[in-house]
Amino acid sequence: MSSSEEKLAQSLTAESVELVPFLPYLLQDLWELGSSPDDMVELITNHKVLTSDSTVLDLACGKGAVSIKIAEQFQCRAKGYDLMSDFIKEARNKAADYHVSDLCTFLRADITLLNLEQEQVDLVVFGAVGNVLGEPPQMLNRLKEALKPAGYILLDDGYALTETYDYYTRKDWLKFFEQTNLMLLDEITIEKDHLISLCDEQISYITTRSEELKLRHPYKADLFDSYVRSQKAECEELENDIIGVTFLLKMN
Ligand SMILES: C[S@@+](CC[C@H](N)C(=O)[O-])C[C@H]1O[C@@H](n2cnc3c(N)ncnc32)[C@H](O)[C@@H]1O
Repeated sequence: MSSSEEKLAQSLTAESVELVPFLPYLLQDLWELGSSPDDMVELITNHKVLTSDSTVLDLACGKGAVSIKIAEQFQCRAKGYDLMSDFIKEARNKAADYHVSDLCTFLRADITLLNLEQEQVDLVVFGAVGNVLGEPPQMLNRLKEALKPAGYILLDDGYALTETYDYYTRKDWLKFFEQTNLMLLDEITIEKDHLISLCDEQISYITTRSEELKLRHPYKADLFDSYVRSQKAECEELENDIIGVTFLLKMN
């Protein structure tokens, strides 16, 4: 079993790689899989990050929600990579629905194996991908490889409210940005009421799909139940202990 497959499962809150083949079915009702395209568009607009000549790279793009909204809004080119071929298919269909197929390219790839230096884009998006590219300093340095000088990074992650919680604090993130020579320009945190309604909606969709899968594969009922449980646990964590945040960073 490859570590990429384990991290892929983790990035979608699946406790076991056995769930990976079922994830497209379980997540079929969701387009946005983690980060908020609206928050990203707002940060790009407020800081005049992109023009129609700019290029964007969306690493672990899921079903392309962020790239498509950015391409639609700024009429710039966006390229997204993801390991799940079903997500890439869905991203291409959505790009056609949003009339941005000529601006968006979606390709299946393991982002840990990409030669990022050949990309040289104006903006790298890394939305809700977790530790797929390693711990934060290593991950940030990898993202920088894909950037032109003075390029930008949009990073969706989270920080613990207290140092006792087993996750990075905001202070830790500031240290990581300093260590990697990145300037924090702005950030948007998820509003609690919005988060609660989003979580409720997502859990309800996933629960319905999980019940359908249990009827088809009764011997895997525990696997599907555990997925719903881990989704609920992640939502509780986000509602109580961790603040979801989108950081806008710039190369120094
Ligand atoms: C929580 S989702 C976020 C998707 C998207 N960035 C968004 O915000 O909607 C995490 C994504 O990481 C992808 N992923 C995980 N490991 C990967 C890898 N090694 N290479 C490419 N994609 C990967 C998963 O397939 C999944 O689509």
